[in-house]
Order: sequence, then C-alpha cells, then structure tokens
Amino acid sequence: MADKYTDFVSRGWGRDLAKRLGLPQPVTLRRHEPGAPLVPGPVLLIGAGPGADALETALKGWDVEVLRNLGETHDGGAAATSSGVPAAGAGKGGARLGAIVLALDGIARPEDLSGLFLAAGRPLRSLAPSGRVVTVSRRSSTADEPALAAARSGVEGALRSLARELRNGATGNGILLAEGVPVDAPSALGALRFLLSGRAAYVDGQFLTVGTAKGELPSDPEKPLAGKVAVVTGAARGIGAAIARTLARDGAKLVVVDVPAAGDALVKVANEVRGTALQLDITKPDAGERILEHALHRHGGLDILVHNAGITRDKLLANMDAAKWDAVIAVNLAAQLRINDALLASGNLGEGFRIVSVASTSGIAGNRGQTNYAASKAGVMGMVRSTAARLAATGGTANAVAPGFIETEMTARIPLGMREVGRRINSLQQGGQPVDVAEAIGFLASDAAGGVSGNVLRVCGQYWMGQ
Ligand code: NAI
Repeated sequence: MADKYTDFVSRGWGRDLAKRLGLPQPVTLRRHEPGAPLVPGPVLLIGAGPGADALETALKGWDVEVLRNLGETHDGGAAATSSGVPAAGAGKGGARLGAIVLALDGIARPEDLSGLFLAAGRPLRSLAPSGRVVTVSRRSSTADEPALAAARSGVEGALRSLARELRNGATGNGILLAEGVPVDAPSALGALRFLLSGRAAYVDGQFLTVGTAKGELPSDPEKPLAGKVAVVTGAARGIGAAIARTLARDGAKLVVVDVPAAGDALVKVANEVRGTALQLDITKPDAGERILEHALHRHGGLDILVHNAGITRDKLLANMDAAKWDAVIAVNLAAQLRINDALLASGNLGEGFRIVSVASTSGIAGNRGQTNYAASKAGVMGMVRSTAARLAATGGTANAVAPGFIETEMTARIPLGMREVGRRINSLQQGGQPVDVAEAIGFLASDAAGGVSGNVLRVCGQYWMGQ
C-alpha cells in the first residue's frame, strides 16, 4: 500500500519543507536482502567480561568487524577502550557503525548502568541509517535481590527511551536471558542475529526473552526453515500472503488456508510459493483435523502453524451487538484454541512444533471502537503463554506477534485523517509492511528460536502507546 507522504518527504523540496516545518521524516527502512551483510557497518560492542567476549566471538563468526569499548568510568572520564576505538565509535576509515551492542549480563546494581549506557551515547551519532542498538541482559525475577532486580529492570527503561531517540530508521531492542542461559546460547545468538538484521526492520523498543529450552542455529542462515512444513491461515492476501512468501523463501513447504470465497486469490498464493491450498473456514468444528489431515497427506508432516486469519467488526461498545462481538471472538480466538487442541491431542506432531499467532497492539494498549477485537487479541496473548507451557515438554514453542499499523487492505479502509495519525505515531514515523510481520514470524518459527516461548513480540515501530 502506498505511503505518499513518505515519498514526498524523501526527496527534493518535500524533504526541505518537512525539515523546516519539523514534520515527521520517515525513511525507507533496511529490509532483508538475501546475501546482504548482516549489519551496514562495524559493530561497537560495549561491556567487559566473559559475556562480552562470547558476543565478540559470535559477531566475528558472522563476518562482522567488532570494535570493543569496556564502558565509561564512573566520573564520566574517557572511555576505556580495549581496541583503540575512536571516541565517536566509527569503524575503519570512518565507516558509520552498523550497530551498538551492550553486554549487560553482568550488572549487579543500578550504579553499573551508567558507565555502559553512557559509553553508547556519543557513538549513537555515528550510527548508520537503519543501524541497530541491542542490549543483552538478564531478565529480572522476584528471586533477585532488590538491587539486582532494579538494575536489570533499569535496562528495559533505558533501552526503550534510547530507542525513541534514534533517527534514520535505526532501532533499539533487547534480549532478556533467563537465569542460567549463557549469552552465547543458540537462541540468544539467534535472537541477536534477528534483531541486528534487516528482518527486524519494524521491530523497535522491544525485548525478546530467551529461556532455558534449547535452540539450534541453522546451517544455512538464508534457509532457516529448510525441510519444515508450515500452515498459514488467512493467507489469500495481506499479512497472511506475505507470511507464506517469507516462510517459503526461508525454505519451508507451505499449506495456505483461507475461506472458500477467497479461493482464487488463495490458489494464486499457493502457486507462487509452490505450496498447496486448503479452502477452509477456520471456525468449522473440524478445522484442526482437516488442517492436520491435509498437511500429513500432502506433505508428510506438520512443523509450524501460523494463526493469522483475523477479522474486525468495530463499534463503540454502546452500539455493539452480539453478532459483531461473537464473530470476532469466533475467528480471532476460539478457532485458534480449537485448532490447537485438535493438533495437540492428535499425537501426530513432531518434536519442536511451532505455533505463532498474530495478535495486535490493540490487545495491549486498547483501541476506541475495538472492545471485541482487543478482547480477542489480548486473549491470543494469554493463550500462547499457557500453550507455551503445554508444548515445553516436547521442545515445542508458542509465541505471538503483535503488529501495530501495517499497510494492508484492512488499514487502507481507515478514513484518511485517522490513517495518517495511525501510521505516524511510532518511533519510525511510518506504517510497517506485511513482510515485517512475516519476518518476525519466520524467526519465531525457526529452530534458532527454540528457547523463545510464551513471548509476545510487537512489530509496531515502537508505537507510542502500551509497552
Ligand atoms: P486481511 O483482512 O487483509 O486478511 C485476513 C485474511 O483472513 C483474509 O484473506 C480473510 O479471508 C481470512 N479469513 C478471515 N476469516 C477467516 C476464516 N474464518 N477462515 C479462514 N480465513 C479467514 O487482514 P490483514 O491486515 O492481512 O491482517 C492479518 C492479521 O493481522 C489479522 O489477524 C489481523 O487482526 C492482524 N493485524 C493486522 C494489522 C494491520 O495493521 N493490518 C494490525 C494488527 C493485527
């Protein structure tokens, strides 16, 4: 879908005018291109200790130039560098930084934050367009001493604020390691790679939590889903079609599902991704059995299920009727529950089964006129947390992505004024593309994300409302 404003302020006098009037100046985001470098320049790695050393080894293994900075002294003195990093953090020949990674896994008290975050301050000015800031720290828990919990929680506030200061398509995100998970656990490195890459273009101000379950890095990073069979519901158009294309690009065999009325469009998508089409209303009582039967019969298995199909029936609660409320819950939530139950009860799923559900930021921040929709999407988040626990024994995971404003037919129907506001009220000052949601799902569906379960990952450009 076109964003004419972004085209207008991207060049010539439109750009000058926007600058003079202080209007939003969104830029074209760096997105995944097969074979492109992971980051658009060297990575400045801030922090000392075994965690930082392990991150340096991993980054170098991905052919990234690494500059080290051990953190500023507490009196605000000169940066203590271990490799002669210029104060502003530029790489060889003055190249702009592709990313700044903060190794914060060893912090113990709030005072430990200053030297590490302040060391990132000036180098932020040298960050390349669509550069990245990624923190790697430990999740705080009620078992932590208060000072330790405070320090760990402090990271989240600092990172979210730092992300709001970035410009030119740069983003800030973090990884929260559960106790006992090493910095270089496969899922921690998988999450780091995802957040640094163009795949995470519209993920901003977010944290991925990595637990103790094992993940596995792919032998070919361009084909992380090779050999997997994936089902995507609501795949005839919009975000669902983008998910199907992205998972197929990453090596998966696809079953695309949509209502019979969308049959022609569905077949086109199926042909494009060399997959098979299943015309099915997911609210049918036997939908789970039919999906499983199709996947087993046509592809010999089922590894990934993406619950994407969704509808809106917006009305203020004062004007809402039961038909509108019930239709939204039936498609967006009840169908997912019933299909999951059927699949989990079947005994036909392999180890490491992946469920990824599409939620919405409306389910987090709430949205006027969407009590029914927000109930369904918040319900999806509760469902994946509970399902994650059920799948853990077999190495399976359940996660959700919560898109913000994505440029689709659904959002193209919003009246112009509201649409303009909706797509600008985030740190990247633009709507996301369907592929941005698809890339996040691709990561969560991969073996690398084996340690990531029960997460809700927002793909919203750091929407102003809700966390
Ligand atoms: P869309 O309306 O363009 O596509 C939804 C697809 O689901 C359609 O092809 C439709 O036929 C299918 N579908 C609907 N009911 C079905 C049923 N009972 N059985 C099988 N298929 C069914 O919507 P869009 O924008 O692509 O959204 C996809 C998902 O992303 C939805 O869950 C939506 O709630 C969610 N979302 C979208 C956002 C956006 O900005 N577009 C923002 C946040 C979440």
